[in-house]
Amino acid sequence: MLEPLAHIGRDPATGGYVRDAWSAADMELREWFAGEAGRRGLDLREDRNGNLWAWWGDPSGRPGVVTGSHLDSVRQGGAYDGPLGVVSAFAALDLLKERGTTPARPVGVVCFTDEEGARFGVPCMGSRLLTGVLAPERALALTDDSGDTLADVMTKAGRAPHEVGRDDETLATVGTFVELHVEQGQALVHEGRPVGVAAAIWPHGRWRFDFHGRADHAGTTRLADRNDPMLPFARMVLAAREAAARRDVVATVGKVRVSPGNANAIPGLVSAWLDARGADEAAVRALVADLTELTDQAGATVREESWTPVVDFDVPLRERLARVAGGGTPAPVLPTGAGHDAGILASAGVPSAMLFVRNPTGVSHSPDEHAERADCEAGVVALADVLEDLCG
Ligand code: GLV
Ligand code: MN
Ligand code: MN
Repeated sequence: MLEPLAHIGRDPATGGYVRDAWSAADMELREWFAGEAGRRGLDLREDRNGNLWAWWGDPSGRPGVVTGSHLDSVRQGGAYDGPLGVVSAFAALDLLKERGTTPARPVGVVCFTDEEGARFGVPCMGSRLLTGVLAPERALALTDDSGDTLADVMTKAGRAPHEVGRDDETLATVGTFVELHVEQGQALVHEGRPVGVAAAIWPHGRWRFDFHGRADHAGTTRLADRNDPMLPFARMVLAAREAAARRDVVATVGKVRVSPGNANAIPGLVSAWLDARGADEAAVRALVADLTELTDQAGATVREESWTPVVDFDVPLRERLARVAGGGTPAPVLPTGAGHDAGILASAGVPSAMLFVRNPTGVSHSPDEHAERADCEAGVVALADVLEDLCG
């Protein structure tokens, strides 16, 4: 089932995927989702925030058990982060049908919109809007690299941006949410197990640092006369690494915009995005405070673009999953530094859990991300067992 998706948004030069929310690739992926729902006779709904739901049974009377993930990607991402969870959801439903199971509760497959935040900077946009943790006015005014707002982009896609926001009617259909995801690390390799269960998601956030300087000629401006924002930016990157090591967290600057971006000119502005995460929220906050203090001296401005508090998944639910998905020996229960829609739903009070499928190299957010077919199949069996158990 991953085959028909393999070409969508793929950069032939790198093999990586570029699947921004509401892009042509995303629209094609949505079409695929609708097709898979239709082929199975599921009832397809798109909520006000652009999330897609395919229902087996009617959840209006009784909240259902929902599974799924997202189809968008980081820029130059791999084939599994997101799509594996959606494909496995449909495959698990097929397996339940093959087993002759008629679930006592409605079962839904979901595809959340813009999980990665690659286009507008805020991750888990679909689930944040759905649960109301992201204000609609803020979301709609976010801009992409071309300066288009989310409102513009949704309008162009034929959607109604003025309708986005907390959606209690849709939330009420979700009794329990289970997201299957490729592991973004090698814990399952070390455990020698194909499938694991999520324990917790580290608190994490993104901050934008703007370093202002004065654009000028690279050849004729004396060093003493320069106001080059690249220098405090470079100091910030090195300080982030040093502070991360000192505070036992991780910090990354993976996106930088240099304006105007001439090889032969001193830049006028450097914008850099810091991603910081760790088991201890205070340590993550302290790292950001260190960097804010350092860059403040250079006149930089710092803005928090997103923050996700720690998520401790419901303990009885995750233990139940570990038992059911483990096939005799409980599946390992693992913490993760990656964010997921399941975390947003859990924080909003929806009983939520996650299954992880072994990733032989642990690499993710890269074209090299991989999962073996046999492990993906084990993931589908585990997910079907979990759905059957939760519906029983
Ligand atoms: C999502 O993949 C994230 O953790 O950034
Ligand atoms: Mn991801
Ligand atoms: Mn993901």
